[in-house]
Amino acid sequence: MCGVFAISSSDIQNAGEKVIEGLKKLEYRGYDSWGVATSDTIIKQVGKISESTSHFPPDTKAIGHSRWATHGGVTKENSHPHKYKSVILVHNGIFENYLTEKERLLEKGEVFVSNTDSEVIAHLIQEQLDLSHNIKSAIQNVAQMIIGRFSIIVMVEGYNEIFVARRGSPLIIGRGKDQYAHTTFVASDIPAFLEYTNIVNYIDDDEMAIIHNDHVTFYDLDSGKEKEKRNIEVSWKEEIADKGEYNHFMIKEIFDQKQSLTAAINHTDQEIKNFISDLQSGNGVYMIACGTAHKVCIAAEYYFSYIAGRKINVVPASEMPAFERFINKKTILFAVSQSGETADILEVLEFGKKRGAKILSITNVESSSIARISDNHLSIHAGKEKAVASTKATTSQMALLLLLAYADNNRLNAGRLVLQDLASNVNDLLNPRYEKYIKSVAETLKDSNNIFIIGRNSLYPIALESAIKIMEVSYIHAQGFAAGEMKHGPIALIEKNSPCIVLGCDNETISNAIELKSRGAKIIGVASENHMIFDQWLKIPSAGTAISIASVLPIQILSYYLATLRGLDPDMPRNLAKSVTVK
Ligand code: F6R
Repeated sequence: MCGVFAISSSDIQNAGEKVIEGLKKLEYRGYDSWGVATSDTIIKQVGKISESTSHFPPDTKAIGHSRWATHGGVTKENSHPHKYKSVILVHNGIFENYLTEKERLLEKGEVFVSNTDSEVIAHLIQEQLDLSHNIKSAIQNVAQMIIGRFSIIVMVEGYNEIFVARRGSPLIIGRGKDQYAHTTFVASDIPAFLEYTNIVNYIDDDEMAIIHNDHVTFYDLDSGKEKEKRNIEVSWKEEIADKGEYNHFMIKEIFDQKQSLTAAINHTDQEIKNFISDLQSGNGVYMIACGTAHKVCIAAEYYFSYIAGRKINVVPASEMPAFERFINKKTILFAVSQSGETADILEVLEFGKKRGAKILSITNVESSSIARISDNHLSIHAGKEKAVASTKATTSQMALLLLLAYADNNRLNAGRLVLQDLASNVNDLLNPRYEKYIKSVAETLKDSNNIFIIGRNSLYPIALESAIKIMEVSYIHAQGFAAGEMKHGPIALIEKNSPCIVLGCDNETISNAIELKSRGAKIIGVASENHMIFDQWLKIPSAGTAISIASVLPIQILSYYLATLRGLDPDMPRNLAKSVTVK
């Protein structure tokens, strides 16, 4: 993942500091360490760039990086930019065959200061530059050597330009305007430069660009031939993510669900019908996603089965290679992603595109790589989700997918009524009293070593999602199971007072809860009605076919309080990043 950002300008005199400011807006891409280089100064630090107070000498160009460690631990040496002789580079992606090249260069006597794959790219560019004295062909040749995904931004001593290249990892050019008319920005995501411009060029795979102030020339990375690029005006306004009265983005975004569920289904009937007609046009639908979005897709598998009588195949994107042989012109690949940049998903979509499959997607970021590669795309309109743990995007994805299932059964209006009802009940539910009560339940659970969650039908994926949410922010081990599965093994783990969250209060789930209680489990019920078996009760509105969406809400609040009561930062949990752009 990692965020990269660079400026080449004759308007901006403090490019180093401006790059730091821009990188702060990309911190969700990785926050293990950061680094920025101007022509003659490199500053690197372990920790979050949002805490940086560094200053740079005046300069009109700078490149920078906020890191999520892949190769090499979280150290200053492994932070970017990497410098080798005249080459200074930041890299986002993974250079899979770096060890082979590193060994070759070590045999030549070259010395490495980091354990990263990225430093090897700097050495390779220098090696090619020494041979050809042509930086453009040096970068082209190195791109040929790299197996994997990359976006790189390079400065070379003695050159005024900034050089960039992309294969697989996002890279977007911002064309300065007004007072920044002689400035060009390059970033892995638009928010880094949105305060300066909304005019962009998307660098596509296997393209490179040479940038000097407002002059940008694009090339095909293989042939080296110059390419034309359209200037695209993005409609985004700079969304200042503001915590307002809340202590963290996570809880703010949980409360944003008072509005976001309505926004999620705010598509015209025609947009929904067009999407469904594309979904119906194939001969088999694969839904692909990762993490929480994957659990959302499993919930959708139930929606489509029950409501539309359609079988959907749901596969975590990283497992899709096993099924690629079934992808052909008749296949519908349906991706669900908050960021729209997840590498595991993009890889499947790129493969599917080559096979002629139709690509549909739902994302929160409208101009994301996944949205752009799709034949049909719908946004969930959830607004910026800044906390690493997905909350409002999750329920918005579920709401839109539930609506699509109704539309697939020609009952779009009925779907709208269910979801409007849910949105209004959620609006009532999310209030300070409810939050305070769930906090009191979190107090009783915060010292647990394990939390079990069970659910059946569309609540089974919510048990899986609840476990992700609890684990990622509180670091308590949590595991979700299909309610009927506990007795097939996991029940052996239940001892006196083992916390078990039971989603739903239908007869079968309650029987499974009784089996757990008989072994000493403490039962926390999530349901619209209380039940005598529940030791604690987290109330949800009765929501009919949308019960899975309603059941997510108390768990999100519970997870938030489990984290904060344990003294943790729920917005930036350890080892994670918001946008996962490496495989
Ligand atoms: C967990 C979480 C992750 C993401 C996953 C996919 O709270 O947010 O599991 O769901 O990394 O990311 P997107 O949705 O951006 O493709």
